[in-house]
Amino acid sequence: GVYSFEDSPFIMEILTELRDERTGPIPFRKGLVKLGRYMAYELTKTMEVEEVPIKTPLEETTGVIVRDRRNVVIITVLRAAIPLMEGLIKVLDHARVGIVSASRGKAPKFEIEMKYVKVPQVKPEDTVIIADPMIATGSTLIRVLDEVKKYGKAKRYVIVGVLAAPEGISRIKEAHPDVEMFVAAIDRELNDHGYILPGLGDAGDRAFG
Ligand code: PRP
Repeated sequence: GVYSFEDSPFIMEILTELRDERTGPIPFRKGLVKLGRYMAYELTKTMEVEEVPIKTPLEETTGVIVRDRRNVVIITVLRAAIPLMEGLIKVLDHARVGIVSASRGKAPKFEIEMKYVKVPQVKPEDTVIIADPMIATGSTLIRVLDEVKKYGKAKRYVIVGVLAAPEGISRIKEAHPDVEMFVAAIDRELNDHGYILPGLGDAGDRAFG
């Protein structure tokens, strides 16, 4: 499934600040961290929970733990996913983290080069979260998923991003039908240079200058 959060006012307010061209690198990075935290929180609503007996100082009752939160691998796609990952691990604090680089070549081929891949072993009970703020043509994430799937079969593969273009979503669905996508919003289209419109510009440049 593809989930977006246009109906969540606070997520939309953070996105508004990220889109605004006047937002400098410091609030831009902070915005990505915040979004990571709230997107992870939304994701926990789809995770397996387990009831546990607990004792308050007064009596015995039943509590819950989010079982799947214990088995998470986050793949950080350099560069722009770094602040997003920082937010994700505030909620998914048990996560093991993989780092990959993927840079997109120029139009019309948009070829992906992956120079650095460091991914922990993936276990059958794991939820693998691929963090990348922008899903434009989808080429980057298709390549990253091809690579990550070599490290073991996971229970779930979830892309967590900020913005997605419809083209990217359908290309990823076609190449990796088992992958779920959580994005703050789905934007209108891509321009000829592969940028999302209305978008927020180049997330890597805006976060890191
Ligand atoms: C951007 C973005 C995604 C990718 C999306 O990264 O952060 O990783 O492009 O494009 P796609 O869906 O068309 O593949 P970029 O290659 O600009 O690298 P950067 O994060 O280092 O700036």
